[in-house]
Amino acid sequence: MRSSIGFILLLTLCVVLVALVHAQQQIGFISIDCGSWQDFYTDEEINIKYTADGGYIQSGVNRNISSEYAYPNNPTLAQILSDVRSFPHGERNCYSLTSLRSGSLYLIRASFMYGNYDGENKLPEFDVYVDVDFWSTVKFRNASEEVVLEIISFAQSDVIYVCLVNKGAGTPFISGLDVRPLNSSIYGTEFGESASLTLFKRWDIGSLNGSGRYEDDVYDRIWSPFNSSSWDSVSTSTAINVNDDGFRPPFEVIRTAARPRNGSDTLELSWTPDDPSWKFYVYLYFAEVEQLEKTQLRKFNISWNGSPLFDSIVPRHLFATTLSNSKSLVANEHRISIHKTRDSTLPPILNAVEIYVVKLDGLATFEEDVDAMLDIKESYRIQRNWVGDPCEPKNHSWEGLKCNYSTSLPPRIISLNISSSSLSGAITSSISNLSSLESLDLHNNSLTGAIPEFLEELKSLKYLDLKDNLFSGSVPDTLLERSRDGLLTLRVDDQNLGGSGGNSKTVKIVVPIVVSVSVLVILVAFILFWKFRRNERSDEEISMLNKRGKNVTTKNWQYTYSEVMEITNNFEMVIGKGGFGTVYSGQMKDGKEVAVKMLSPSSTQGPKEFQTEAELLMTVHHKNLVSFIGYCDDDNKMALIYEHMVNGSLKDFLFLSDGNSDCLSWERRIQIAIDAAEGLDYLHHGCKPPIIHRDVKSANILLSQDLEAKIADFGLSKEFRKDNQKEQSHVIYTDATDEKSAIMGTTGYLDPEYYRSGSLNEKSDIFSFGIVLLELITGRPAIFKGNKIMHILEWIRPELGRGELSKILDPRLQGKFGANSGWRALGIAMACSASTSIQRPTMSVVIAELKQCLAIESPSDTETFVPPPKQVYTEFYSSSEAYSYDSESITYPFPR
Ligand SMILES: *[C@@H]1O[C@H](CO)[C@@H](O)[C@H](O)[C@H]1NC(C)=O
Ligand SMILES: *[C@@H]1O[C@H](CO)[C@@H](O)[C@H](O)[C@H]1NC(C)=O
Ligand SMILES: *[C@@H]1O[C@H](CO)[C@@H](O)[C@H](O)[C@H]1NC(C)=O
Ligand SMILES: *[C@@H]1O[C@H](CO)[C@@H](O)[C@H](O)[C@H]1NC(C)=O
Ligand SMILES: *[C@@H]1O[C@H](CO)[C@@H](O)[C@H](O)[C@H]1NC(C)=O
Ligand SMILES: *[C@@H]1O[C@H](CO)[C@@H](O)[C@H](O)[C@H]1NC(C)=O
Ligand SMILES: *[C@@H]1O[C@H](CO)[C@@H](O)[C@H](O)[C@H]1NC(C)=O
Ligand SMILES: *[C@@H]1O[C@H](CO)[C@@H](O)[C@H](O)[C@H]1NC(C)=O
Ligand SMILES: *[C@@H]1O[C@H](CO)[C@@H](O)[C@H](O)[C@H]1NC(C)=O
Repeated sequence: MRSSIGFILLLTLCVVLVALVHAQQQIGFISIDCGSWQDFYTDEEINIKYTADGGYIQSGVNRNISSEYAYPNNPTLAQILSDVRSFPHGERNCYSLTSLRSGSLYLIRASFMYGNYDGENKLPEFDVYVDVDFWSTVKFRNASEEVVLEIISFAQSDVIYVCLVNKGAGTPFISGLDVRPLNSSIYGTEFGESASLTLFKRWDIGSLNGSGRYEDDVYDRIWSPFNSSSWDSVSTSTAINVNDDGFRPPFEVIRTAARPRNGSDTLELSWTPDDPSWKFYVYLYFAEVEQLEKTQLRKFNISWNGSPLFDSIVPRHLFATTLSNSKSLVANEHRISIHKTRDSTLPPILNAVEIYVVKLDGLATFEEDVDAMLDIKESYRIQRNWVGDPCEPKNHSWEGLKCNYSTSLPPRIISLNISSSSLSGAITSSISNLSSLESLDLHNNSLTGAIPEFLEELKSLKYLDLKDNLFSGSVPDTLLERSRDGLLTLRVDDQNLGGSGGNSKTVKIVVPIVVSVSVLVILVAFILFWKFRRNERSDEEISMLNKRGKNVTTKNWQYTYSEVMEITNNFEMVIGKGGFGTVYSGQMKDGKEVAVKMLSPSSTQGPKEFQTEAELLMTVHHKNLVSFIGYCDDDNKMALIYEHMVNGSLKDFLFLSDGNSDCLSWERRIQIAIDAAEGLDYLHHGCKPPIIHRDVKSANILLSQDLEAKIADFGLSKEFRKDNQKEQSHVIYTDATDEKSAIMGTTGYLDPEYYRSGSLNEKSDIFSFGIVLLELITGRPAIFKGNKIMHILEWIRPELGRGELSKILDPRLQGKFGANSGWRALGIAMACSASTSIQRPTMSVVIAELKQCLAIESPSDTETFVPPPKQVYTEFYSSSEAYSYDSESITYPFPR
């Protein structure tokens, strides 16, 4: 009796545990059965809970596939394929996948099966987009083919839009949509968060089982079995540790592997892309599944089209690891060869592989335009295809919109037509935020109220149609004037034309009549009063008004000198001093803490150039750049206003906090480096024209409350920089023995090539970044006093030769770092600070490598088989003889 109760308890516990595992697995999953008639159900086959799509889309109609293709005629058909949502109306229909975490990585899967749902027996062809980016064309070979698309993408906001676009080749439809959250540190590419990966192949190598969707895959990937006639399968039924690696392949997949049947052969995978320009990323999964004897060794190296990718891989017993190329692979044909090394006694193996194609994200519509459109949609409850990005995909913008596309700038809305749309109420002020608008058509609605003054702010407006509405009052004067001057085509009802134009006319007529000797006194008094008022208003205000007239968007950015005095409370507190001038702490009216940098006036730069630069800064936004709040350009008094960064500069944080209380952890240091690298990458590749920082150093990397790093002082002109460098070099000149080393020593961060070429470029920033990275790694400043005054590169060369990592890394870390990660970071730093610029990697490569550093960091486990640092170099520079690393004789290039 007792034992049977125990048994039942145990059984219940098991059931609960199993249920828990499944529940946990599905956290954050969004599983949508498009066109479903049932609000919720669980697909027992795969144990996934589906919901109908009503909450994600308004348009379209639900249809069942034809019975010929459905259950019970097709007993194995998955339930999500048995119905579809189809979109006979509108060019573009979008699902809004909401409640995502902005900045997180997601796997999105869309499934399509035609099943002759419309009874027309005609296979449609249409396009699918993710946000603004083309994802794929969907086409079918037959009515029962299931087309599955997968993409891995970072959420740019809390919504991802999946849009179906009708291109005139049949009605778009969809069967199912899945969203699975991924660990954001996996599936990295050299392009960072601005790239998505579309699935090409995902193979379970040496699979024993047909089925490819496993409940123990926490990311719910679908693996296709893959076998070759020249391979044998090997497998284990003992548990494999997959948890150390963010990729977490399911047990069913990782437990099987293939090896070449003839032990001396290589294991080869090859494929041909549809388009030879496709950029591939390959993720190779390995785990040793056989118990090896002491005398046995399985060791192999991996190459791609004959050039080495990885050396000396020894898969660990029952321990999964993933390897991936760090630069994308581009070729007409691809061949990955895994061949055993000479000392290996066993043939190579491969457990699983995923192959993806990179897609670079396009530009979304100008943010202020998007916000304005969302407000307008909300204000008038507009029922149109207004979802997704207003201007993208190109040629498929929202109904009633026209956009201006350029190659480098976000699309802008230039025409808005919401005529005959039963709009009522007043004209919403959001319309005035569409600052590029050239044409506005609101005719034939029931709009009421006055014709608002804010329409004057639309400086590009050439066409305005307000006819057939219920407006009261008259059109604002400026609009009438522009219409009279032929700058604006104005269509309004007659009752809105009369009023104010006439008034101003009467005033003009009345004034001269009233001017008589008797009222001259009054007139003089009036003129004096007017002049007085004018004087009272500071000149700054007047010049601001002029500028506002010129450009609506600058008005929020520009501050007068007196406002700057107010913000800084009369320059009360100095928080920094640099070559540029002094930095003061300040507070904006809304309480926001800011840093105000007063620039020393420069003879080489007039106010006009300064303003041009300040306006450029306003267009630069990135989470790893200190945000720019405004500027002052007032009678040769120039100031820049930035957000205040609580934790000050990296330099102070790293070198002044001697007490180990504030010591930055290894992971934090790498994260800071990644942040800074992403900021620089944005300046180099995300800005048009690209911005060269010219003064990357730890003092210019600031830390937020959460120690997130942001780059400061970017985008200032060459002229400023030159002055600055002279000033600084002057300071340290005294210690120097000869001029050349003096200049090198002065800044410590300056590209040695600069002295040869005299010009600074993107790669100069990368050199400087390398020095900052060395500072982070070693805890030593770029220039420091040992036996003599030394540059960090001079110091590190002999240390690297000795190869004792613990002597090189910051002693304050007290050994809390992974050896692999340490070597790898050093490798990156040394590559960045190579003496000639062609040897230096680009920022995107640096970011990918640093992310790997973070990924392989596991202090407690220094024996992971991640290859030694040599690996890093061969990967970076497989074809370059310029940079060599040899464990016997290290030849690092140094600035001389
Ligand atoms: C589609 O199938 C479901 C059941 O599978 C049924 O309830 C529904 O009525 C069908 N719809 C149409 C339009 O046939
Ligand atoms: C439909 O096409 C798929 C893919 O080519 C194929 O596997 C399947 O056998 C075809 N089915 C029929 C009924 O022709
Ligand atoms: C196939 O997979 C199922 C479910 O994952 C498993 O129970 C079964 O043992 C597998 N079959 C073989 C031959 O491994
Ligand atoms: C793989 O294919 C070969 C030949 O086609 C076959 O002999 C072998 O059993 C297959 N392996 C598995 C696991 O199915
Ligand atoms: C993500 O993966 C990394 C290893 O790549 C791991 O250290 C980290 O804990 C994972 N994060 C989560 C939330 O699982
Ligand atoms: C294995 O491959 C080697 C080299 O390709 C060849 O010489 C040898 O005959 C092969 N062995 C068998 C059993 O096929
Ligand atoms: C891979 O291993 C083989 C056998 O030891 C060796 O001949 C070859 O040079 C290696 N390839 C690379 C790139 O190291
Ligand atoms: C957009 O339309 C124009 C002309 O109508 C055409 O030339 C262009 O290729 C289209 N672009 C896209 C992306 O469809
Ligand atoms: C589109 O934008 C470009 C670049 O800003 C501008 O030169 C051009 O005049 C604009 N075209 C229209 C039709 O507004």
